[in-house]
Amino acid sequence: MPGIIVLGTQWGDEGKGKAVDALGEHVDLVVRYSGGNNAGHTVVVGGEKFIMHLLPAGILNRNATTVIGNGVVVDLDVLYHELDGLAARGEVVDHPLISANAHLITSYHQTLDKVTERFAGRKRIGTTGRGIGPTYSDKVNRVGIRVSDLLDADLLHDKVVASLDMKNQTLVKIYNRREIDADIVTEQLLAHAERIRPYIVDAARLLNDELDAGKVVLFEGAQAHHLDVDHGTYPYVTSSNPTAGGACTGTGVGPTRIDRVIGVAKAYTTRVGEGPFPSELFDAAGERLRADGGEYGATTGRPRRCGWFDAPVVEVANRVNGCTDVFLTKLDVLSGWERIPVCVAYEINGQRSDIYPMTQSEFQVAKPIFEFLPGWTEDITKIRDFDRLPANCRAYVKRLEELIRCRISGIGVGPGREQAVMINDLV
Ligand code: IMP
Repeated sequence: MPGIIVLGTQWGDEGKGKAVDALGEHVDLVVRYSGGNNAGHTVVVGGEKFIMHLLPAGILNRNATTVIGNGVVVDLDVLYHELDGLAARGEVVDHPLISANAHLITSYHQTLDKVTERFAGRKRIGTTGRGIGPTYSDKVNRVGIRVSDLLDADLLHDKVVASLDMKNQTLVKIYNRREIDADIVTEQLLAHAERIRPYIVDAARLLNDELDAGKVVLFEGAQAHHLDVDHGTYPYVTSSNPTAGGACTGTGVGPTRIDRVIGVAKAYTTRVGEGPFPSELFDAAGERLRADGGEYGATTGRPRRCGWFDAPVVEVANRVNGCTDVFLTKLDVLSGWERIPVCVAYEINGQRSDIYPMTQSEFQVAKPIFEFLPGWTEDITKIRDFDRLPANCRAYVKRLEELIRCRISGIGVGPGREQAVMINDLV
């Protein structure tokens, strides 16, 4: 009966795909519950690299059924581009089941995402430009298009017309752009209707039935705690709830059915897009982390901002999400530093704060207070046993565990599926 959530505790790109992968054959169903193709899940299997933006990373796990929950926003072109791309590389995967209530990203959402960012100038969020924010806005404004609308072409057309009504005025009168034609958008959406029809399901009922039957369901988070629209560094956030509560609202499974919440944390910190990041490095050390960790956005190719591990950032995520375990990724990237700074507190307006502050204006001006831990030089990529890690490496893990107030149950020591050190079972 276990329901397990895997989510990011920082600003995304923690290597959640790897943690999902580490759970491997124990999992019967993998469900995505938030976000869309703004995500970039990289999984390396047999030396081959796969990047999934919309598909759950668990799709490469042949034993698991994959589901796209109602909390996800779906770009149908991307869905089929990714499925066909996997097939072209000889990866035979099952088509994911898709909640009838998931919302569709249309071409007008993408257009609006790009023009509003351009219009915002220096105040831009640095979105991925995939139409995520405008699609969630429509959902909340009750003018969104749901996957189930693909089943009725006339209804779909009416909804597209209604949704475009005000948007076209905005596009023409404010942004000086051309009107978008509802017929063309409807056609674009219907192009995939027949292919997707057999996979549209009542995902909430299905998942609850599977949990009743004793199956293991993995709720795969996208983005991360600090990009959550409620708990993240607002307004520099995405427009959904990647936090643990989002796994319930985004799938239709109640909180009493969740047994485990695994927070994924990178051994240092990265961020893409705008927004505060106290432990960010602007010098050669940052360049080195970026180069060693291959820190370039999987979705947009943008260089990621890099900095040291920020303990209060991960601690608050563990608290808010009720994490039972943490999976620490990319520890191997830290090999070779003489000493490794860890942000343990902040100086905010001249005062020390050991915890993540209450307001964004405080976090915006927070200066990191570092503790320096001794580094290690050994290559750890082939180690599979915690006790065989270099002593300073073990001490780093143990100190992080104290600071983030959660046990570290698994460690990533390289990109490969097998490159993990497991300390506690995750299922
Ligand atoms: P949006 O989700 O495209 O609206 O972008 C909002 C913010 O979230 C931007 O700063 C993006 O760079 C960031 N973001 C969205 N998805 C991801 C992700 O999967 N990893 C890291 N950052 C992301």
